[in-house]
Amino acid sequence: MTILVTGGAGFIGSNFVLDWLRQSDEPVVNLDALTYAGNVENLASLDGDARHIFVKGDICDRALIDSLLAQHQPRAIVHFAAESHVDRSISGPGAFMKTNVDGTFTLLEAARAYWGGLAGDAKAAFRFHHVSTDEVYGTLKPTDPPFTETNPYEPNSPYSASKAASDHLVRAWHHTYGLPVVTTNCSNNYGPYHFPEKLIPLMIVNALAGKPLPVYGDGQQIRDWLFVTDHCSGIRAVLAGGKLGETYNIGGWNEKANIDIVKTVCALLDELRPSADGPYARLITYVKDRPGHDRRYAIDARKIERELGWRPAETFETGIRKTVQWYLDHPEWVARVQSGAYRDWVATQYGG
Ligand code: NAD
Ligand code: DAU
Repeated sequence: MTILVTGGAGFIGSNFVLDWLRQSDEPVVNLDALTYAGNVENLASLDGDARHIFVKGDICDRALIDSLLAQHQPRAIVHFAAESHVDRSISGPGAFMKTNVDGTFTLLEAARAYWGGLAGDAKAAFRFHHVSTDEVYGTLKPTDPPFTETNPYEPNSPYSASKAASDHLVRAWHHTYGLPVVTTNCSNNYGPYHFPEKLIPLMIVNALAGKPLPVYGDGQQIRDWLFVTDHCSGIRAVLAGGKLGETYNIGGWNEKANIDIVKTVCALLDELRPSADGPYARLITYVKDRPGHDRRYAIDARKIERELGWRPAETFETGIRKTVQWYLDHPEWVARVQSGAYRDWVATQYGG
């Protein structure tokens, strides 16, 4: 048996592939276009491992997907590939529509044709697992209960609107064509291989470089943080036991204000890599807010726990310590990621 993963060179996808092959010998075909966010170096430990078949290609390329499905006959598709950064979606939404909407549509159509040609046990076992986000539900007020799977969709950014569109396509392909799908909507991930355009890795690498730590607006926006390998175990649980056509929220019950996240990162760095110039919190700099910035996300993860017995293994305290330590232990990864396209983006976003 084999699974096809899309976007498996990105942050969560590469953690998923590594985690999958730590737990099982079932091969992974990894289709990734290697945009600025894709980094095959994340998968260097799999060099020469026959269980990992990497294919550089676009999920919008129907002929390529058809040929991969025909050649490898996967029992499941786990779909991570996306444009994922909200700020980039504000400055350039086109790529988000192309990959997140059109790419998911192309993948669904290819999956439908492939699944339609299967028979018996192979047809019954096939799954299309769509990896999505809590941002599709919009924003919460301070006293609102966390998002459940029945919350209405109210996406507010081009990114979340494109992900919401892809969720709707997946739902419709199940409802109309019977395609065996499951969808997971997860909260903010953090951990190793996180691209340093996102809050936590950006704060770590900027602090170590003595650069400002840009906090948007008043820094009181709330996100619900989950260590990335807990997201991977949640996906495995839903892929194995999730009900067809259902969605499952995945989250770590870790609501934190952005400014508190930044201060926690600073305190850990003060402990693990003290700076001769004084505490890292001196670098905190409040900057202009993100347009349309969602104030609060929070996930109610009781359904996946009740139905599938999933719970996160890491607390925020253990996960964030592991994360900071990983960045301290991998300066060469950071240095290579910071060359090229990433530097251009930082200049555009933060004025150099
Ligand atoms: P990422 O930006 O780190 O990685 C995305 C990967 O997709 C990259 O390897 C990129 O090269 C690849 N890709 C982009 N366009 C492609 C295309 N057209 N064809 C093939 N590959 C393409 O993203 P991530 O943070 O790892 O997120 C992965 C998935 O999880 C996304 O669908 C995202 O919406 C979802 N998600 C992310 C988070 C989070 O906190 N990061 C939380 C919930 C859900
Ligand atoms: O909620 C899940 C989502 O989490 C995923 O679907 C997205 O793919 C992922 O990128 C993430 O989106 P966010 O916008 O929440 O993540 P980001 O790391 O960009 O920002 C986290 C919070 O920190 C957000 O409130 C904006 C703020 N922020 C971010 C950056 C990059 C800052 O204050 N300063 C910054 O420099």
